Amino acid sequence: MKILVTGGLGFIGSHAVVELLEENYEVVVIDDLSNSSADVVDKIKQITGKDFDFIEADVCDLDVLEKIFTDHKIDAVIHFAGYKAVGESVKEPIMYYENNLVSTLHLCKKMLEHNCNKFIFSSSATVYGDPEKLPITEDCKVGGTTNPYGTTKLMIERILADIHVAHPEFTAIILRYFNPIGAHKSGLIGEKPNGIPNNLMPYIVRVASGELEILSVFGDDYDTPDGTGVRDYIHVVDLAKGHLSALKKALKDEGLFYYNLGTGNGYSVLDLVKNFEKVNNVKVPYKIVDRRPGDIASCYADPTKALKELGWKAELGIEDMMRDSYNFILKQKQ
Ligand code: UD1
Repeated sequence: MKILVTGGLGFIGSHAVVELLEENYEVVVIDDLSNSSADVVDKIKQITGKDFDFIEADVCDLDVLEKIFTDHKIDAVIHFAGYKAVGESVKEPIMYYENNLVSTLHLCKKMLEHNCNKFIFSSSATVYGDPEKLPITEDCKVGGTTNPYGTTKLMIERILADIHVAHPEFTAIILRYFNPIGAHKSGLIGEKPNGIPNNLMPYIVRVASGELEILSVFGDDYDTPDGTGVRDYIHVVDLAKGHLSALKKALKDEGLFYYNLGTGNGYSVLDLVKNFEKVNNVKVPYKIVDRRPGDIASCYADPTKALKELGWKAELGIEDMMRDSYNFILKQKQ
C-alpha cells in the first residue's frame, strides 16, 4: 500500500509518517518546507529505521502532482499541507484561501484522473465555531468560523462533500482535530512554530525554557470552572494513530465520513500550566490579560463516533503531553 502524505514533514504529518512506516506502508511525502525543515526526513528515518520518498514541492503545482501520480501507484492520500496560523490568515486572506483551497482542489483533480479515490483530510474543531453544545458531536452545526484559516477548513469540507456527490467512489474521511500538543517520545520530532508562537503549548514550553519571559493568559472571566478557556488537548501521537485508523476504514468502505479526534476531556489554561509545572518540575510565570478576540470559552469533543466506527481512542494522558512537549524543546537546545 502506497500512501501520499502532503505536509508530511510538519508537526502532525511527521508523526503520521512515523506511524505509517511502523505499520509497513510505503510513503511518499510532498512538502514545500514552508513551515517545516528538511532535517525531519532523517529524524523520521532514525525513529523508524525505514525509508520513504520525499519530494520538496508545493501541492498547488499540478505538474508535480501529475508526476507523482504517474511515477507511483498511490492508494490513498492524507492531506496535511496547509497554512494554519489564525492571526496571519486575518492579515493575508488571499494567501490562505489560495494556498489551502487550490492545493486541495489540485490534489483531488489529480486523484480522480489517476483513479485514486481515498482521501483523508485534516480539518479542525474550528468548523464548529462557538459550539451549540458540549461535548461536541459530529452532527453539531458547523459554521461561524471567525478567521480565514478556519473558513478554509469549512470550505474544503464542503468541496469534498460536493466531489463525493459527483463521484461516489471518491471516499473522503474528514478528521476534525481538537488541540494537538505533545511530541514523539524520542524528542526528535515535535512542533517548531516559526517566530513567537500563537498557540498555548508552544508558548508555555518557551516560557519554561527561558526563551520567553511570561505567559499571557487570555482572560479569566469565561464561564468555566476557573474562568480561563477550556480545550480538549490531544497528544499528537494519538492523533497520528487516528489517521491510521481512518486510513484503514477508507481503504475498505466507500463514503463521506466525519470524525472528531479529541480525548473528550477539557482542561483550562491554568490546568495546563499547573500540570506542566508539576510534571516537569519547572515554573511557568503567567499574568492574566484581556481575552483574545475570536476565542471561545470551552471546546471539547465527544469522541465516541471515532471509537465506534474507527476503533480509535486517545490513549495518552495530560502528563504524557506535558512531558513530551517539554522534552522536545529541551532536546532542541542540546
Ligand atoms: C487555535 C485556533 C484554531 C486552530 C488551532 C490550531 C483561534 C481562535 N483558534 O485554537 O482555529 O485550529 O489553534 O492549533 O486562534 N491561550 C492563552 N495564552 C496564549 C495562547 C493561548 O491564554 O498565549 C489560551 C487561549 O485563549 C485558549 C487556549 O489557551 O483558551 C488554547 O489556545 P490555542 O492554543 O491558541 O488554541 P485554540 O485557540 O483553541
